[in-house]
Amino acid sequence: MCGIVGYIGKKEKKEILLDGLQDLEYRGYDSAGIAVVEGKSLQNFKAVGKLTNLREKTRNYHSEGFGAAIGHTRWATHGKPTELNAHPHMGQYSYVVHNGIIENYQALKKELAAEGVTFLSQTDTETIVHLFEQYHQASNDPFGAFEQTVKRLEGAYAILLVSEADPDAIFFAKNGSPMLIGFDGEEIYFASSDTPIIGKAKEVYYLEDGDYGYVKEGKVHLFNQSGAKSYSTQPLPTDKALAQKDGYRFFMEKEIYEQSRVMGETMMGRVLEDGIRFEELNDHLFEGINAIKICACGTSYHSALASSYLFERIAKIRCDVEIASEFRHKEPLLTNDTLFITISQSGETADTLEALKMAKRAGLRSLSICNVDNSSIVRESDATLLTRAGIEKGVASTKAFATQTMVLWMLSLWIAQQRNTIETDRLREELDAMLHTPKALIVTDALHDRIHRLSKRYLHGHGFFFIGRDLFFPLALEGALKLKEISYLHAEGYPAGEMKHGPIALADSELFTIALMPASLLYDKVKSNVEELSARDATILAISPRPFDLADDFIQTQYDSHPMLEFFEMMVVTQLLALEISIRLGNDVDMPRNLAKSVTVE
Ligand code: G6P
Repeated sequence: MCGIVGYIGKKEKKEILLDGLQDLEYRGYDSAGIAVVEGKSLQNFKAVGKLTNLREKTRNYHSEGFGAAIGHTRWATHGKPTELNAHPHMGQYSYVVHNGIIENYQALKKELAAEGVTFLSQTDTETIVHLFEQYHQASNDPFGAFEQTVKRLEGAYAILLVSEADPDAIFFAKNGSPMLIGFDGEEIYFASSDTPIIGKAKEVYYLEDGDYGYVKEGKVHLFNQSGAKSYSTQPLPTDKALAQKDGYRFFMEKEIYEQSRVMGETMMGRVLEDGIRFEELNDHLFEGINAIKICACGTSYHSALASSYLFERIAKIRCDVEIASEFRHKEPLLTNDTLFITISQSGETADTLEALKMAKRAGLRSLSICNVDNSSIVRESDATLLTRAGIEKGVASTKAFATQTMVLWMLSLWIAQQRNTIETDRLREELDAMLHTPKALIVTDALHDRIHRLSKRYLHGHGFFFIGRDLFFPLALEGALKLKEISYLHAEGYPAGEMKHGPIALADSELFTIALMPASLLYDKVKSNVEELSARDATILAISPRPFDLADDFIQTQYDSHPMLEFFEMMVVTQLLALEISIRLGNDVDMPRNLAKSVTVE
């Protein structure tokens, strides 16, 4: 996820861009950059790291008078967070900024390289500006060239392009990634969300997927597949704080809703029709490997635990999971036929980082699953798969967990392909289920409303047990952790089949059991475990696609044919339940007491 700002008009452009990017920094802060065209002069500044670095670099630069300007704040997905990989990307006389992922960029790059184009960066974005200039040189028609370029792009994008070929224009296109146009008379703004233009523009048009066009002389020329298109504007919201949360009450709530969309980004270019492709991994990473060991903390540990079922079941490879702080001091026996995987949202968790260093000292090959490129864990690992969740602000992790689990699911298939442990039909079933995941993550109003209403019955009692079996046991652990973190109520995740070996002694009507009862995995087994609890008068909230008579409360899920689809759908239910209970208790959902987003001490 990256942030884009654009402006065309007579005002000082640097400040408009920098202020706008500041408001979008929550979308990424690996690097930032701006490009300004004024007549024949093209200026460009880039800096790695937070926006203050770019501010410092542009301290003596001012841009008065009419001109077009674009800016970008980056969250790396292709290529390291370096200055060369920072946007705007440059051709010979044009600049582009882009948010999203161009899925066919490698094919485009090959084609352009064959025509003698040299690339400065490792990004997918740079292909856009070269493609534009190639078409422009052939036709001498800037908009025609932009239109041809857009038609060649596959994937998700929000793009702004400026060029000396038409210095009075900004070219734009949107598909899958957010972008809007703000209006204040003839002054025209672009941004990835409302926030940067609140207080500047008065009206807004939210671009739709497939929209592209250009702005010139105070007018927007808008097109889509069917040709020229009309549009109508609406008044811009006025509350900046609310706008940054896209109207949600808390970042955590926004991030829960975002999961469906970011999952598309996690899969993009990786989930193909006939298998999984990770351009980040080479086959050698896996040569001679007979086992996997995963180390992580907190929510990332739960994702690791869930994946261990997938690695053994799908990839037929032994997989052990350990909490990083335990692993570090247990004098573990490590053999170099083991691939050492670390999972971390931040890439900075001290215990996980130290575990990784230990494994490296023991000569193990390492792979990290991480959300932050160039973080310590990424730098330390032999290979990395980025989760592409975008910045997660809520301390209680949601979309990071979802995307980690997805990457691990994809990895289990990738390894299964390498080891030939999966039949073609099964592979297709898994791929098909993956492609349905974004749908399973959609939060409907009816679901949210139902959870909001029933949450009022769960504000007291002497504790919660989240129970599940198999993959749904780690999900139960994660559901309980979410609730603990933000409600401060006592909650435990437990394997459903293990309740009878002790915890059932706690059962009474004040013990709340959240039962994860998927139809596609061990339904009858979990059902008998829940019946045992119900017989002891525990209060049961069942989450299942199958109606369950003994439940005191019931949330019916939709998916019943694939465990991972059920997993993701139930994950959303547990996240919303924690959120609604926390809100009712009046807690600070995004910044719960005693917790930190990134724990860099032992
Ligand atoms: C902290 C956070 C948790 C997170 C854990 C691991 O405890 O509060 O939400 O799951 O660290 O963080 P990581 O960045 O390594 O995934």
